Amino acid sequence: METKIEIFKTKDELSQFFAEMIVERLKVMPKERFCSIALSGGSTPQSIFQYLATKHKKNIAWERLLIFWSDERCVAPDDQESNYRMTKESLLDQVSIPATNIFRIKGDADPASEAKRYDEAVRQFVPSYNDIPRFDLMMLGLGEDGHTASIFPGNLHLFKSKELFVVAEHPQTKQKRITSTGVLINNSKTVVFLATGEAKSAIVSTVIEAKSGSENLPALLVHPENGELFWLLDEKAASKLINKTDKKT
Ligand code: 6PG
Repeated sequence: METKIEIFKTKDELSQFFAEMIVERLKVMPKERFCSIALSGGSTPQSIFQYLATKHKKNIAWERLLIFWSDERCVAPDDQESNYRMTKESLLDQVSIPATNIFRIKGDADPASEAKRYDEAVRQFVPSYNDIPRFDLMMLGLGEDGHTASIFPGNLHLFKSKELFVVAEHPQTKQKRITSTGVLINNSKTVVFLATGEAKSAIVSTVIEAKSGSENLPALLVHPENGELFWLLDEKAASKLINKTDKKT
């Protein structure tokens, strides 16, 4: 697996790189094939979505994308906490993407039933590799505690589940979440970790450089063995990295 580290001066440059990742994948894909993307929640993706909506409204073939989420909070779709709401407002309402291409995780449904339903939906619409759906692009954020998607430290059993989606719980707020698991994440063609800001610099360095104590962090288990892993960082988030070059692992 290749790990590519890209460091940017500004969030716009990072967002532009992400846009180009989408364009590149669409370019090499047969025209009749959809590009399946699992989006992350949080503030970092939000700024990327806003950039895409303003700068790439016309030059990305949005109708060729299938939009999924790597995780969702168990709240109504119009709730301030909803990843769907954030994505809809910052991107999906601004670009021409058919509603049938958008696969919302129903945060307002019973969590266990929805995890199962979404697992089946992803299996139905995302082409498989080794009998597991394989996303073209899996977007992930990184929490300061080393969580990713909605898998938090101390819950590695969820990352190792054989299901594609499971019910998780935020350790502080106890908010229920529906999250993708390692079997799905690590089957992706490309996983893109996004992290910006000084506050992420310590955890970025801990995870990328696999520092002692990091072995129990969910983010460290992200390893798309038959794909590639990108870290899109701004200079502040990368500031504690000793070695900023790409790695082969
Ligand atoms: C969520 C995300 C979560 C997020 C990280 C980083 O639903 O909140 O999936 O994993 O990506 O907490 O969030 P920020 O980008 O806001 O720091």
